[in-house]
Amino acid sequence: MAGFWLFVIPSLIFCLLLVKVMVSKNNKKKKKRNTRCKLPPGSMGWPYLGQTLQLYSQDPNVFFTSKQKRYGEIFKTRILGYPCVMLASPEAARFVLVTHAHMFKPTYPRSKEKLIGPSALFFHQGDYHAHIRKLVQSSLYPETIRKLIPDIEHIALSSLQSWTNMRIVTTYKEMKKFAFDVGILAIFGHLEGSYKEILKHNYSIVDKGYNSFPMNLPGTSYHKALMARKRLKTIVSEIISERREKSVLKTDFLGHLLNFKDDKGRVLTKEEIADNIIGVLFAAQDTTASCLTWILKYLHDDKKLLEAVKDEHRALLKENSREKKPLTWGQTRNMPLTHRVIVESLRMASIISFTFREAVVDVEYKGHLIPKGWKVMPLFRNIHHNSKYFSNPEVFDPSRFEVNPKPNTFMPFGSGVHACPGNELAKLQILIFLHHLVSKFRWEVVGREKGIEYSPFPIPRNGLPATFLQHSL
Ligand code: HEM
Ligand SMILES: *[C@@H]1O[C@H](CO)[C@@H](O)[C@H](O)[C@H]1NC(C)=O
Repeated sequence: MAGFWLFVIPSLIFCLLLVKVMVSKNNKKKKKRNTRCKLPPGSMGWPYLGQTLQLYSQDPNVFFTSKQKRYGEIFKTRILGYPCVMLASPEAARFVLVTHAHMFKPTYPRSKEKLIGPSALFFHQGDYHAHIRKLVQSSLYPETIRKLIPDIEHIALSSLQSWTNMRIVTTYKEMKKFAFDVGILAIFGHLEGSYKEILKHNYSIVDKGYNSFPMNLPGTSYHKALMARKRLKTIVSEIISERREKSVLKTDFLGHLLNFKDDKGRVLTKEEIADNIIGVLFAAQDTTASCLTWILKYLHDDKKLLEAVKDEHRALLKENSREKKPLTWGQTRNMPLTHRVIVESLRMASIISFTFREAVVDVEYKGHLIPKGWKVMPLFRNIHHNSKYFSNPEVFDPSRFEVNPKPNTFMPFGSGVHACPGNELAKLQILIFLHHLVSKFRWEVVGREKGIEYSPFPIPRNGLPATFLQHSL
């Protein structure tokens, strides 16, 4: 969900405009406010710019960590003009996302909502959200995704094969293609190649616009993205019509969307269907790609660990290659070390570093007031990197997951009503990819550049340039 965690590329003009509206609204509300509790500690920065400049001029996690040291687990600040309460404890995150979720709604900038599609489930709360969420979940049940294993294997192998013909592979960029293809598979099942190509190209234009300045003037990336978005809707409509003509019934996500009827017999409109398809593609692609890229880096940097992971796959490979069998679901459930590598990578990289909600009423939390209309941000990354919950948090150590983390301290897929419904598919495709990677290929990272880049997800610098070679165990 690229960019969900940072509002927009910072721009002073945009910021000033936004804040003018916010400030005038807030002044009106102040009079009626609950006076029993106090606002959380923290500084709001300069009236208009707030602490946005500070946030953007350094790694956001450094910003949060320094605030957390100073003020504790809950503190206020202002980002792009919005007053925010940041929450850096598992209890507070659980309060907002799980136990008091009805008092908070999802909140995204309007410009992003327009690009993804306003009917996409993650912008919603209540009945509509619950309905669509059920449809997503039922297309991602273990019984459904286990049938995708041979296709995912095929996609993984042909991606890897093609990388051996490239001089230098930008790992993140190629992982995005892999994750996109798996996303298409979960949504449409076997989609005709020509549809896949036009979806891919038009979607990549949307993707570029998502992370650019949201100015809708001819020539801007944002404008191009909106146009491509319209074309995507048309393509999805065509796919739907074709399916209806042939009256095929399928258990993929599109099949579930098409079969849906609410209590009053209402079916979903083509807009709602298209918005949710694009929404799921969007939620699935960068997250999975970023996670895989980090795993390749962590494994590359720890040869001993890599050898141990290879050992785990050696046995499985022997079982299968004799009869050229595909991986079984059972085998994917039996890769304990690889699984720990994945969860430790999710903790270390904390790809979704935080999320946003907005208080729909005045809320009281442990004697602090969170005023109606304020944003709240559960800071997943700070929780994942707190030595209270994870000892030596900056060390990559999969063995820490030999015991379960303390309750509510590990939330790479969020928590509560909006928690990631794609987590099993994400892990499955990563396991399958790693199985083929470590048993049939070798990779070397090119260059010694260290550090993190924000794309806006955290990824290794330059997307981890690497070379890939075929190789057998
Ligand atoms: C490693 C990969 C992934 C990570 C780390 C991840 C993480 C997350 C997180 C943290 C949320 C909650 C955001 C919030 O509460 O604001 C979320 C929501 C969501 N994710 Fe994922 N995700 C991943 C892969 C996927 C995949 C593969 C799919 C689909 C096939 C997917 C579909 C969704 C959807 C639809 C939502 C919105 C759910 C709702 O609002 O009810 N994600 N994801
Ligand atoms: C985008 O979609 C349209 C169909 O609506 C198609 O004709 C066009 O070739 C696609 N664009 C790209 C760049 O693939």
